[in-house]
Amino acid sequence: MQKRILVLVSALSVAVGLWGCAPPQPTSERWFTPEQVAAGQPLYASYCAGCHGEQGQGGANWDRPNADGSYPPQPLNGSGHSWHHSLDSLEETIAQGGTHPGATMPGFAAELNKPQRLAVIAAFQNFWSDQTYADWLYRGGL
Ligand code: HEC
Repeated sequence: MQKRILVLVSALSVAVGLWGCAPPQPTSERWFTPEQVAAGQPLYASYCAGCHGEQGQGGANWDRPNADGSYPPQPLNGSGHSWHHSLDSLEETIAQGGTHPGATMPGFAAELNKPQRLAVIAAFQNFWSDQTYADWLYRGGL
């Protein structure tokens, strides 16, 4: 029992230490090219903007559940928590749609192939600030 607490305490101090020692620095280096952003923009406008907003600002009251317990479309411009998800997980959400119970986002695997799904991600990550992008990298985005 005591050993477990010790392990927990040392894991916590490592975690706190990591946060403390290496604050993510803003970066303008991105994984995508300007061509991918340009390819993704019209796809984003046709397939995503209707729910997530032209600028990725999310649906109205996105941070509160709807009356039926489902969630409105989240912002994709970096102000929500899309930056908590790795590139793989973002790509999977776009392919499969929402997976948690009550999720309403449709999947786009039939409409958008993988390079197109990546281009759509490039288009909305292009809205992210350098700091949000650095935070995403720091959390293991790539
Ligand atoms: C019909 C509305 C609708 C459309 C169209 C739609 N989404 Fe969503 N999206 C949602 C909803 C609602 C959620 C919240 C999860 C859920 O309930 O499924 C969501 C969640 C997400 C998430 C997870 C965000 C987070 O912060 O966890 C991503 C990424 C995403 N959508 C990307 C896209 C992209 C890219 C497109 C276009 C290819 C798209 N969505 C099209 C409604 C939509």
